[in-house]
Amino acid sequence: MSQKRQAKSFYVKTFGCQMNVADSERMMSLLAEQGMTAAPSADQADVILINGCTVREKAVHKAVSQLGVYHHEAKGSQRAPIIGIGGCVGQLEKNALFKRAPYLDFVFGTDTIDNLPEMLSRVANGERHIVYADFDKSMDYSTETKVYGAKAQAFVNIMKGCDKYCTYCIVPFTRGKEKSRTIDEVLSDLARLVATGVREITLLGQNVNSFGKGNPNTKNRSPVELHNRIGKVGPREGEENFPMLLRAIEEDPRLSKLRWIRFTSSHPLDFSDELIECYAPPEKGGLSKLAPHLHLPVQSGSNAVLQKMGRHHKIEGYVEQMDRLREICPDVGLSTDLIVGFPTETDADFQQTLDLLDRVQYDNIYAFAYSPRPGTRAAKLQDDVPAAVKNERLNILLKRQLEIAEKRYASRIGREMELLVEGQARHQNLLHGADATNSKVWTGHTPCGRVCNFISDSPRPLIGRFVRVKITAATSLSLTGELVHDPFEAERGGDALPPLSEPISSEIVR
Ligand code: SAM
Ligand code: SF4
Ligand code: F3S
Repeated sequence: MSQKRQAKSFYVKTFGCQMNVADSERMMSLLAEQGMTAAPSADQADVILINGCTVREKAVHKAVSQLGVYHHEAKGSQRAPIIGIGGCVGQLEKNALFKRAPYLDFVFGTDTIDNLPEMLSRVANGERHIVYADFDKSMDYSTETKVYGAKAQAFVNIMKGCDKYCTYCIVPFTRGKEKSRTIDEVLSDLARLVATGVREITLLGQNVNSFGKGNPNTKNRSPVELHNRIGKVGPREGEENFPMLLRAIEEDPRLSKLRWIRFTSSHPLDFSDELIECYAPPEKGGLSKLAPHLHLPVQSGSNAVLQKMGRHHKIEGYVEQMDRLREICPDVGLSTDLIVGFPTETDADFQQTLDLLDRVQYDNIYAFAYSPRPGTRAAKLQDDVPAAVKNERLNILLKRQLEIAEKRYASRIGREMELLVEGQARHQNLLHGADATNSKVWTGHTPCGRVCNFISDSPRPLIGRFVRVKITAATSLSLTGELVHDPFEAERGGDALPPLSEPISSEIVR
């Protein structure tokens, strides 16, 4: 007869994007609701969960080799923790993972996280090699956000899946079809979070700006068709849409203490004129809560490459969108994703990506070497850019961006900015001399999305508080500020916040 296994404490290791980060919070929260506690490290946990990413080959490799590390460590210390793997890796690989790691207890996918307590109970009772990785086929998407611990910032899924099928990308196969929550449900969810102390939300989805598309439950508002200068595939007349959601959040009296709305990720094809107008100053019809920050992935500066990537727009249209946005919100912080070394990418194509950086002047970029993903359309093309060339292009791109960011960040010196404090900075090396005894270096993001560190000798905990800083120095990666009086904090309910926890108890690897 099989023996009952202990499942009193857990440890979650997260790989990948914010979607996985939010999913890990959900997992931790579900397990805490079962009476389990977070272990400080994997070697002290009864249950170890890996939330894996498959977006590039390297990411899959990291998740699977991490499994081996945990197994090896446990064996060495004669422990037998329950080990499960989920996220996009679980969704895609399913049973195949047991061949690679026979000691693995269970595999779960992106749509089955809420079944975690059930899976654990089965494994604790002696079952092994369980798989929960079916997609939820219904077009209804209804949920309640779960955050682990008290927080001032929360990720809120508003849609899931992706229907874009860019030729290189595995995500539509790991996250399924696009489906959206209703505006009313999101508003109630946010009201609950704000009542617990949340002051900044990041609306999440693979394509947040196609929110509402095809949603069968959204006929009770009066939605209108959106306009896009580069094509139109988003929600249609009669369906709720993303700008409507943003305006509903801005106007909801239950959300008066919510300070910032951010969102990620978006696609240029759904970046409507109506969404751009949300960035205008409030006196010109824009939204006061929308952070002046936009992450809009573009992937390449070359029309030939964009076409082969199946992005369905030209670079000129994207640049026009960015110009319009800068015109109505000059301080907006822009970031993007770029892929180098896509099949057939020539030096001239790559030069067009460099030219795009010069033209748009991003604050930050996330750049990746192309990695063929089995099952995608691009995987059928010959991966003809040698690895050395991909790496060289990646280095050139990152170097160019650092030069741009350095100038952009330096232009902020002398300005005052508002920060939501996220915690103590990892490196305390801003401190020197007398400062070091009583002070600490704190960190947060400016509304436009830049990291800013500042020194404070405040005896009260600053996490989750809004402060005002004057920028005194800048590098290409972060700003340094000096704390100045913040007349807005009390007004925003900062002092009424319950005690907040340090950001997250598990480790996140990007
Ligand atoms: N939905 C977002 C979008 O449309 O851009 C994010 C998709 S993905 C989770 C994040 C980034 O990974 C992409 O924007 C792309 O730059 C990169 N990526 C996706 N597939 C890739 C691949 N096969 N090789 C290299 N990078 C890839
Ligand atoms: Fe992937 Fe493209 Fe969908 Fe983004 S829009 S998740 S890159 S298929
Ligand atoms: Fe995110 Fe990786 Fe999945 S980037 S959606 S965790 S494949």
